[in-house]
Amino acid sequence: MSQKIKVGVLFGGKSTEHEVSIASTKNIIRAIDKDKYDVVLIGIDKKGSWHLNNNYQVLLDQKAEGKMTEEVQSDFGEEVFIIPNEDDSAKLVSLANTANETSIDVIFPVLHGPFGEDGTIQGLLKLLNVPYVGGDVLGTAVGMDKDVMKKLFIADGIPIGDYVCVKHFNRDQFPFSEVSERLGLPVFVKPANAGSSVGVSKVRNEEEYNTALDAAFKFDNKVLVEAFLEGREVECAVLGNENPQASVLGEIIPKHDFYSYDAKYIDEDGATCRIPARVDEALSDKIRALAVKTFQTLCHEGLGRVDCFLTKDNEIFVNEINSMPGFTPISMYPQLWEATGKSQKELTDELIQLAIARFKRDQRLQSVI
Ligand SMILES: Nc1ncnc2c1ncn2[C@@H]1O[C@H](COP(=O)(O)OP(=O)(O)O)[C@@H](O)[C@H]1O
Ligand SMILES: [Mg+2]
Repeated sequence: MSQKIKVGVLFGGKSTEHEVSIASTKNIIRAIDKDKYDVVLIGIDKKGSWHLNNNYQVLLDQKAEGKMTEEVQSDFGEEVFIIPNEDDSAKLVSLANTANETSIDVIFPVLHGPFGEDGTIQGLLKLLNVPYVGGDVLGTAVGMDKDVMKKLFIADGIPIGDYVCVKHFNRDQFPFSEVSERLGLPVFVKPANAGSSVGVSKVRNEEEYNTALDAAFKFDNKVLVEAFLEGREVECAVLGNENPQASVLGEIIPKHDFYSYDAKYIDEDGATCRIPARVDEALSDKIRALAVKTFQTLCHEGLGRVDCFLTKDNEIFVNEINSMPGFTPISMYPQLWEATGKSQKELTDELIQLAIARFKRDQRLQSVI
């Protein structure tokens, strides 16, 4: 019998970032140490059904590498559901034949955006009583909602730009004239809960404002209108539970008007990463400390990427945290750790071990008296 730890890699999902998740997953399964871990793929299709495939090579062999054309299909593997096991693992059971069971020791949810890094899947995994990689229910939920996140930033003195939060039902209380007078122009309009720049617009006039609100309200009932923060986009990778560590900084140089979905994923020359960022050591240390503080303010554990704006006058504003940052070969998070001296094999190992350590730590907590 294999003594290896069985890692269930959960990917795809009912999310606008389904395809990004597949690209991240390919990279993660390549990196995971196969001498120590057995990788089992659990693909979630766009309807939300789970498909099990014990052969991770299946995904690596798919041809359309890099381009976002693939999705998890029902023939990817047999449809399964997940239930708790007696021994702190989870059990995947075939829908067609309930005698077919696969036990999983730890789950790596490589799911971006809503239903992946917003506390929902974390809630399911917590109920199952199985260790899982990344932030807990609370940390991922508050890190996903840009309005709640900013309220916590304000409470903890983390610098952010001015913004207003518009709800679907009170949209008419935020006319362009008043919002632009308060925030100046341009402004950024974005759904409170989304990611990968989906539904994000840069707005310069009233017509664009109305179009941008329509676009953002497609993805959420809550939309943020933010003052434009002119500056470089600087990112920091954070890793750890009680004592999180910060990586060197990276800088995104978008070639588009801003770091849009196209610049991120469609246009191969849409943006370049500069690692390390062109920031002097003292300022870099300040941003790294702020990234760790941000991570802790948001009750986060495991991993997160903290994104900031750095103005010409070296003023820092935190933009957001990404609880399950992109993990594709060209993504910042794994590259930042490589530049800090951690290989992707070491990084994935550490992430899985952090999940197990947190689970063991929390086992001492009583849920009944
Ligand atoms: N207030 C802002 N000022 C300047 N640029 C912004 C602002 N908000 C967003 N952007 C630009 O839009 C991109 C996506 O916005 P972001 O808030 O990071 O959303 P997402 O969660 O989808 O990544 C940022 O990387 C940046 O290029
Ligand atoms: Mg972002």
